[in-house]
Amino acid sequence: MANSAQREGVAAGATLNRDAAPGETLLKVTGLQKHFPIRKGLLQRQVGAVRAVDGLDFEVKSGETLGVVGESGCGKSTMGRLITRLLEPTAGKVEFEGKDITHLGVGAMRPMRRDVQMIFQDPYSSLNPRHTIGTIISAPFKLQGVTPEGGVKKEVQRLLSVVGLNPEHYNRYPHEFSGGQRQRIGIARALALNPKMVVADEPVSALDVSIQAQVVNLLDDLQQELGLTYVIIAHDLSVVRHVSDRIAVMYLGKIVELADRDSLYKAPMHPYTKALMSAVPIPDPRRKSAKSERILLQGDVPSPIAPPSGCRFHTRCWKATQICTTTEPPLLELKPGQQVACHHPENFEDQAPQDTVLLTVAKQAAELVADEVLAESAATSAAVAAEVAATPAETPTASPAATAPEDEAPAKEK
Ligand SMILES: Nc1ncnc2c1ncn2[C@@H]1O[C@H](COP(=O)(O)OP(=O)(O)O)[C@@H](O)[C@H]1O
Ligand code: SF4
Ligand SMILES: [Mg+2]
Repeated sequence: MANSAQREGVAAGATLNRDAAPGETLLKVTGLQKHFPIRKGLLQRQVGAVRAVDGLDFEVKSGETLGVVGESGCGKSTMGRLITRLLEPTAGKVEFEGKDITHLGVGAMRPMRRDVQMIFQDPYSSLNPRHTIGTIISAPFKLQGVTPEGGVKKEVQRLLSVVGLNPEHYNRYPHEFSGGQRQRIGIARALALNPKMVVADEPVSALDVSIQAQVVNLLDDLQQELGLTYVIIAHDLSVVRHVSDRIAVMYLGKIVELADRDSLYKAPMHPYTKALMSAVPIPDPRRKSAKSERILLQGDVPSPIAPPSGCRFHTRCWKATQICTTTEPPLLELKPGQQVACHHPENFEDQAPQDTVLLTVAKQAAELVADEVLAESAATSAAVAAEVAATPAETPTASPAATAPEDEAPAKEK
């Protein structure tokens, strides 16, 4: 954020800085939280809270695509609505182009609304069935009081052709279109005001698999043409893997791993990332016998009302030890460009080598992890341990014990 003061100056002026240079930080999120209060009784006293988003720190750079993945209920949509300021955060900070937008009111947010747009998951419910396509796509102009050059109708027709639809269809109604076409209409609406950043919340989850790739490709092409910055939310890695530059993996309101795409695929470090990756249906040729390595996660995501202590993944992790139940692992950049929150990461030196006794729940979870995964995990840990031992390390005692948890991991005791 070397230029943040500079940008602040620009942003505070009459016009907003239109163009953050590619690679410059466009959006910065610090300690972001959203707790939905749970109220009970006549007095509607608050008796608890859904900790939907519970402390996120990340940046989105201009021109990049940040993929955000995680199981249903982990807080992805809430995160999307927080960074587009459709929701008010409970705590934390959201900065856009160096300007703090965390608590801006409706009026002050107005110019920002042009720059940040959202595409919603369900193309059926997100378009008003009583409005024509022309009305839907031109709504942002009305809201912002903007008249595009050449008039509204011409601009709507141009946008329709940009997203691959027939410009003559502006008078038709949403029900006359297929799911894929409706999502294209949603994209056209999002592009109307020439935004800088588009947050797409599961943009293809509701579409047939055969249509999904077309819409993803459209988003990709539009990014190239318009220099857009994307945050693309998905519940598995198959959608974001091809389009993301970096990927954030969320679990129960937190980011557990954040890395550039290639690092994440080559060597995932969080056990949860590894599990998600093994669930991707399209086998990656680089990952041999992808099918047989499937990791089945035990049970559902725990409730965000009372998340597990320590590492929130410890109730489902096959590597969990005592420390995982008591101490929350911080999100640390363990490798360049790869941040992970885990005491016993994959493909890296153990962060808590003294703690080697697996929890009972971990032993049970290990039964759901393919032998290949456990073997691979043990092998990479041994390799990393050897590497660490070979280089004069700052923590020489860490290496010999580093493989211990994996040695125990293959679930022999059935
Ligand atoms: N308006 C709300 N009020 C109360 N709880 C909510 C609200 N919106 C979302 N939640 C809860 O927050 C958690 C995260 O939801 P969400 O962000 O939609 O997750 P995801 O998009 O990853 O499926 C869920 O437990 C959900 O039930
Ligand atoms: S090893 Fe521990 S810290 Fe790492 S993911 Fe599993 S439970 Fe969490
Ligand atoms: Mg969602």
